[in-house]
Amino acid sequence: MAEDKVTITDKKTGKTVEAPVVHGTMGPAGIDIRNLQKELGYFTYDPAFMATASCKSAITYIDGDAGILLYRGYPIEQLAKHSSYLEVCYLLLYGELPTPKEMEEFQSIIIDHTMVHEGLRRFYSGFRHDAHPMAIMVGVVGALSAFYHDSTDITDPRHREISAHRLIAKMPSIAADSYKYSIGQPFVYPRNDLGFVENFMRMMFAVPTNEFKAHPKSVKALELILILHADHEQNASTSTVRLASSSGANPFASVAAGIASLWGPAHGGANEAVIRMLEEIKDPKEIAKFIKRAKDKHDPFRLMGFGHRIYKSHDPRAVIIRQMCYDLLKELDTEDAPLFETALELEKVALADDYFIERQLYPNVDYYSGIILKAIGIPLNMFTVIFTMARTVGWIAQWMEMMEDEEQRIGRPRQIYTGHPRRNHPSEK
Ligand code: SDX
Repeated sequence: MAEDKVTITDKKTGKTVEAPVVHGTMGPAGIDIRNLQKELGYFTYDPAFMATASCKSAITYIDGDAGILLYRGYPIEQLAKHSSYLEVCYLLLYGELPTPKEMEEFQSIIIDHTMVHEGLRRFYSGFRHDAHPMAIMVGVVGALSAFYHDSTDITDPRHREISAHRLIAKMPSIAADSYKYSIGQPFVYPRNDLGFVENFMRMMFAVPTNEFKAHPKSVKALELILILHADHEQNASTSTVRLASSSGANPFASVAAGIASLWGPAHGGANEAVIRMLEEIKDPKEIAKFIKRAKDKHDPFRLMGFGHRIYKSHDPRAVIIRQMCYDLLKELDTEDAPLFETALELEKVALADDYFIERQLYPNVDYYSGIILKAIGIPLNMFTVIFTMARTVGWIAQWMEMMEDEEQRIGRPRQIYTGHPRRNHPSEK
């Protein structure tokens, strides 16, 4: 990477400092400000890290203005068209698409790790029966570190790889179990003769009295949803996983922290919130009222599934998912077409409104994904769990990259203190 510099001058003292510029292969360069405090006595101030690069990464590239998303250089549109989710997992983890032999080996490793320790399944019984599956996911995934002591030496690359395989493989089982527990049905064991998505759907919907065979269109739709949600550079939950594990915490506990962050409605919880919003709107004639509320500063209501910190033209994932809605709703006999019509009309009205145009607010990945999930029978409170399942590979790939980055150490941001100056306790003599 080429190196050049910028000069920063403190007008008050006249002091100047030269800061090196760090270039990547694409996208904005960064000013290395690590010496700023020592040389000029200042911190940088960037609440919510709107303009801060926390690391160098070779995994995912986003161009928010052009609406571009690349996983290891491959456009998301091409991966969506040609790859399976496990192939994308391999790509994100190892940096290259697998050869057929590598794919076969990877597939069999993942299949061998799909079962969870029986003790872990007893863990669920501590939750209230109506616990939100995301609450169960946070607890159970964190508990994995109590069961897999044989792969928590994070300094050992082989341990890191085994943990990565375990997390990718076990997430569908843990996710399906969290759903089964919430509806009081017995857990269903994974089967090694089924594909990754088919296996998950069977664990979700099979019951002892009835086998379950997923509709091929549903399997394809869910596979696509998983691919589109697999990674997204330094989003809130990925940054949480990186920060948590920067202290040396094991990957299971760090991914549990990422799940907690993803659950928020401003992040992965938005897909569930979008459906609730569309159901609340009910009739497209009500749309104007909701648009008015979304624009009202005094109303906390936001158009869920709209807006993005980085995408200021369009979220390429939303474009793919919208097309998938058209295709799937035609194929499946589902009563969700009106929901899709409302979503299309709401998007049309919002994108013609100055408020949304001026703020560059477009549908994001969560806007249409819920319609797909609902159409294939995934219950609403499992939508963010599906996002969790998909993003596990992104979190763990970013974790592995961080563990091999010699520039990385424990993350410890500073602050601008705005509290009281030193003062004595009233009882102090
Ligand atoms: C994901 O970071 C990632 O990569 C995340 C993600 C991933 O793959 O990991 O892409 C997944 O989390 C997608 C986002 C899902 N969240 C939602 O759909 C929730 C609704 N959207 C917003 O809350 C919001 O748009 C965010 C959180 C997504 C982005 O927020 P920012 O970048 O902090 O923008 P902001 O809140 O400062 O908004 C800028 C302006 C504000 O108005 P003004 O103060 O300038 O007048 O736009 C307004 C906001 O009020 N605004 C909205 C809005 N989103 C922003 N107004 C109405 N409805 C909205 N949805």
